[in-house]
Amino acid sequence: MRLEDCKLLASVAELGVEHLPGISLSEYTSLGIGGTTDLLLIREHESILGMLQLLDNEKIPHKFLGGGSNLLVGDGELPWIVLQLARPEPDVLLEGNFAHVDAAADLGRTVTYCAKHDLGGMEGLIGVPGTVGGALRMNAGAYGMQIGSYVREVKLYRAAARRIEILEGDQIFFEYRHTSFAPDDMMLAVTLELPSKSYQEIIQGIRICNEKRRASQPLGQKSAGCIFKNPPGASAGRMIDELGLKGLSVGDARVSDRHANFFVNAGKASARDMLSLIADVRDRVERAYGVKLENEVVVWNA
Ligand code: EPU
Repeated sequence: MRLEDCKLLASVAELGVEHLPGISLSEYTSLGIGGTTDLLLIREHESILGMLQLLDNEKIPHKFLGGGSNLLVGDGELPWIVLQLARPEPDVLLEGNFAHVDAAADLGRTVTYCAKHDLGGMEGLIGVPGTVGGALRMNAGAYGMQIGSYVREVKLYRAAARRIEILEGDQIFFEYRHTSFAPDDMMLAVTLELPSKSYQEIIQGIRICNEKRRASQPLGQKSAGCIFKNPPGASAGRMIDELGLKGLSVGDARVSDRHANFFVNAGKASARDMLSLIADVRDRVERAYGVKLENEVVVWNA
């Protein structure tokens, strides 16, 4: 979707929001898949309110983009525009055991920055691509930990109330790869309370997680991490592997040879290819195990 009205664009500029016309979301997603639209880059949290008011007045549909690392976007000209937060400098402020982090901060860099200041707990998240806001919304986790355990406060745009709110950690419900945030809420910033640990101890934990990840996941290939959530008490990756589906392809969308719950873009895969591979694998697992796998990847399909 294109923002072409000059008056509208002048108001966007007045809000200090940057307009990037005709970008391909394939360049903004770790899968390297996605069609074309306009992107609005928000530099000040507060300008979101004015921006959304403008979009509402003009009835322009929109979506909020984080780091694009757990996202499958449809092909072609997209019927909505995309809003993204610009990363401020600095994006992390430390105060004792509290880390105040902007939602646009890179997750891995946040984990290592905190480590350098003897704050640990998030070692498992090293190697998970994306922003802190994205990790928060999905309650990202790995190796026995999840980010939700450390959340003390969240600043967000609440779509239902149309205002910016601060929620205390205990007002938010975190469960496996799920949170009580509404789909159209936008994460703005979070305060994490992290346990004190020595840098050496944290780095040791980070090394172990890195090695495990390197040994079992297709790092360096275009993917969105795990495609399906694990069903209770089972591993989606193991089930898909047991059915001999590693290497199964639709066009350039392919079940990874290394980890069967990672589907990679081995070249020029389209969203259509990837969605058809997802549907095929889901059907086969359901027929074999009687379990309908739920998407972990977020799908924005037109
Ligand atoms: N396995 C196979 N074949 C495969 C993949 C896995 O047999 O192709 C087996 C493994 O050998 C192991 C079991 O399945 O015995 C579980 O595998 P793994 O330890 O890789 O964990 P997972 O359940 O597949 C989850 C998260 C990952 C996270 C890892 C490590 C989900 C959907 N996935 O994977 O998160 O990195 O644990 O903690 O919860 C993500 O969220 O995108 C993600 C990659």
